[in-house]
Amino acid sequence: MSYKQKVKKLWNDRDNQKNYFKWLMIYSKPYMGQILLLMSIKLAGIFASIYMAILSQKAIDAATADNASIVAPLVGYVVLMLALQASVVIYSLINTMLNEKYGFGIRKQVYDKILDSVWMETQKYHTGDLMTRMTSDAGIIADGVITVIPGIVSLLIELVAVFGTLFAYSHFLAVSALFMAPFAVVLSFFLGRIMKRLQIKVQESETAYRSFIQESLANILIVKSFANEKMFSDELSRLREERFGWIWKKSKVSLGSSAVIGIAFQLGYILAFAYGVIQISKGEITYGTMTVFLTLFNRVMSPVVELASQLPKVVSILASAGRVMELQNLEEEKRTGTGNVDNSVGVDVTDMSFGYNRDIVIENSTFNIKPGQFVAIVGESGIGKTTLIRILLGFVNINSGSISYYDRDSNTTNINADVRKFISYVPQGNTLFSGTIKRNLLMGKINASEEEIQKALEVADCLEFINEMPDGLDTIIGEKGMGLSEGQAQRIAIARALIRKSPFIIFDEATSALDENTELNVINNLKDMTPRPTCLFITHRRSVLKYCDRQFRIENRCITEEAVNDKNI
Ligand SMILES: Nc1ncnc2c1ncn2[C@@H]1O[C@H](COP(=O)(O)OP(=O)(O)OP(=O)(O)O)[C@@H](O)[C@H]1O
Ligand SMILES: [Mg+2]
Repeated sequence: MSYKQKVKKLWNDRDNQKNYFKWLMIYSKPYMGQILLLMSIKLAGIFASIYMAILSQKAIDAATADNASIVAPLVGYVVLMLALQASVVIYSLINTMLNEKYGFGIRKQVYDKILDSVWMETQKYHTGDLMTRMTSDAGIIADGVITVIPGIVSLLIELVAVFGTLFAYSHFLAVSALFMAPFAVVLSFFLGRIMKRLQIKVQESETAYRSFIQESLANILIVKSFANEKMFSDELSRLREERFGWIWKKSKVSLGSSAVIGIAFQLGYILAFAYGVIQISKGEITYGTMTVFLTLFNRVMSPVVELASQLPKVVSILASAGRVMELQNLEEEKRTGTGNVDNSVGVDVTDMSFGYNRDIVIENSTFNIKPGQFVAIVGESGIGKTTLIRILLGFVNINSGSISYYDRDSNTTNINADVRKFISYVPQGNTLFSGTIKRNLLMGKINASEEEIQKALEVADCLEFINEMPDGLDTIIGEKGMGLSEGQAQRIAIARALIRKSPFIIFDEATSALDENTELNVINNLKDMTPRPTCLFITHRRSVLKYCDRQFRIENRCITEEAVNDKNI
């Protein structure tokens, strides 16, 4: 079974918490060697410190005896102490490196998954939510698998080892040191349940907080133009308070339990101390044995206390694992190749229906666009023009009917995600990335030559304004094309699409910000291209219609052809 199939199977039975853990194990397999190395270093440290306690007993007993040398135990103690310090440094370095590598592994897997998934599926999540899952949840999982879970295993081993050693010295002390253990186990079981609920709340409030910041910064002009600064600032404070409220509750629960266990621990320590003093006064044990008692007693209790605080963390790790696993099960786009459709491309749509969820947007529509035709698509706002483009680009799956692309040599391909290889798209609105203008253009074709760049700029009527910029193509533009006029950004977006020399180009209101002359230039340039690309123009503008060979109208969920320019739009 492949990794994907395994994850899917586990996700289908997601009510079973064990499956989250199983996924962590499957995902962590490649890192197991390094995780085990980390655990070995930690365990070596634990055994070294137990032996140091024994050496200190030997040194004290040697000092109080007449003719024994304290040099050997002391030298041993110092050597072990140095080795212990070195192991702490090495552990930390490997831990940092592994944590980063593991966390990035999850982030990359989720990022790639989002890129490869059906667009509609990913749209169900706010980008702030996706970001939280990729950063915060991935971080919690990485910390959990690299530090917390191996830590718990080491603590259990430490507990057994120290208990064994202490038992060899005194059965009574060893057992009394553990009298807290059942209490800690019961407490952490109940804590685990409370912590799971709190952890989900913490992550949800984190998502709301991040989404709010991201969205308001991206739309800062709207916030300012409606004079909403104070409202947004207050809302951020409210979201922070909500988030803090949950974090605070979670901290109180875990600190409260630590305090209870801590007090019980101190009481146990006093018990051991009193017992040791009485034994010394009776002359039944040496000072060295007393030292080892107290040191080891501490070392039995501290893993118990630690375990009580670490075990509930496993719940947080599983909650985050569930949130990441959910994204790993997004439906992937179907890719069946392009069937070698190239040159001039047309599209044949038969009886096609589509709706988002249950609301049908387009019903039983049939049309055929021939290679090289210029087609206008008109219709009132919200009627389904952009939706038709999403359908033709394979971003959404149609409910019924068929769509196939074909070329002049009768090669055909049914709609699938790969058709985007031969379709260029100029979307509605500003869709440039921050960086240089050239970088934006190269997104159309990564290895475009200077000549190809110049040609695309010429057709999109960009040459003049880019040449006027001091840095030309290397001019840096901000997020969403900041620094350019809307018409300039639109023309660069057109050039970005043209540079691919696709046989099929879709323009979604792509000339809306251009003046009539510039628009005329761009469309005429497109007409002169050889071979002439098939062009779909979604438009509200009459000027564009003049240049189109055909005109389709979307009305009452149907796509019907009408005589060019015969109706007002
Ligand atoms: N992601 C979506 N999920 C659910 N419904 C959607 C989604 N996108 C659009 N719609 C709905 O589909 C219908 C068609 O929207 P579409 O964006 O295709 O309109 P349009 O013709 O492009 O409008 P405009 O001219 O204003 O751009 C609308 O009723 C809209 O509410
Ligand atoms: Mg639209």
